[in-house]
Amino acid sequence: MQDQLSALLAKASAELPLLATRPDFEAAKARYVGPNGELTALMKQMGAVPKEARPAMGKLINEAKTQLQSQLDAVHARLEISELAAQVGPAVDATLPSPDVGPGTYHPLTLVREEMCRILRKVGFMVADGPEVETEYYCFDALNTPADHPARDAQDTFYLPENVRFANVAKKNPGEKYLLRTHTSSVQIRTMLKGEPPIRIVSPGRVYRRDTTDATHSANFHQLECLYVDKNVTVRDLKALLDYIFESLLGKDTKTRFRPHYFGYTEPSFEVDLSAKHLPKVKKEWIEIGGCGMVDPTVFSGVGYDPEVWTGYAFGMGLERLAMLLYGIDDIRYFYQNDLRFLKQFA
Ligand code: DAH
Repeated sequence: MQDQLSALLAKASAELPLLATRPDFEAAKARYVGPNGELTALMKQMGAVPKEARPAMGKLINEAKTQLQSQLDAVHARLEISELAAQVGPAVDATLPSPDVGPGTYHPLTLVREEMCRILRKVGFMVADGPEVETEYYCFDALNTPADHPARDAQDTFYLPENVRFANVAKKNPGEKYLLRTHTSSVQIRTMLKGEPPIRIVSPGRVYRRDTTDATHSANFHQLECLYVDKNVTVRDLKALLDYIFESLLGKDTKTRFRPHYFGYTEPSFEVDLSAKHLPKVKKEWIEIGGCGMVDPTVFSGVGYDPEVWTGYAFGMGLERLAMLLYGIDDIRYFYQNDLRFLKQFA
């Protein structure tokens, strides 16, 4: 029996390291240690071993069993590693250059933003920035939008919890709330408080509203704001500037029209429509693009400018809307999905 055990172990040592697949391994395991396996058969012969020899024999069998088991374990571990490697695929060297060698492209919103800033810089506007987390003062109060105005409703505006603090956005009034700015008009106030007229700024940036997402709405989108403050500024100047920027961006055939409207921070106020039927996919005669007006004297007084001396105009518009017109994009959600098939169309 001792010889049989040695022979069995020798056979296993020769055979097991060569096993390469799981079915072969399972079959070999059954052949050695399964209920009908060779080792099991030897163990069953114990009954025939004389009583005196049994302890020694039992010890040998146990040793053989342990040895076999550890060889099987080693094969199993080896197979698991190779199976995993097969799933993972070939080794990757993360330090090698990417096989995707094409250069990146600018996002269409970046393209429109930069083009608008370029057009406005040409006529003396400077780019100004402001925080996306704002206070009620900059977003509403200073813009002559009273506390009971619907735009301030928590249904339209994202307010931040009372206990949150933003070290770099100072509150003007005790007790006022932080919010995500609903428009870039807040930058008008920040700019006027920082400097002296004349002022010519353009401020593109992200804004937030509690809108349900669909093809034309998104809870966060982008606006572009302009403010001009000087002496003797008129509605004619405002209309001329808007004509200039839209013709520059969308082509000479673009027309602009004003419709009377109400904004707390401008008087008179208008909504601005564009006509650009030469553009592909523009089906409507007039498309609303933003709001504008002459800066309200109350706003000037609030920032310490004498409304008897200073005049100005302001306007704000949605960048997505402009990009959609320019490129013939019919769903605002494409801007935010980062689908390369979409993004690669813009150079
Ligand atoms: N803030 C307005 C909006 O988000 C747009 C706007 C209207 C901006 C009139 C202005 C303005 O600067 O004068 O709908």
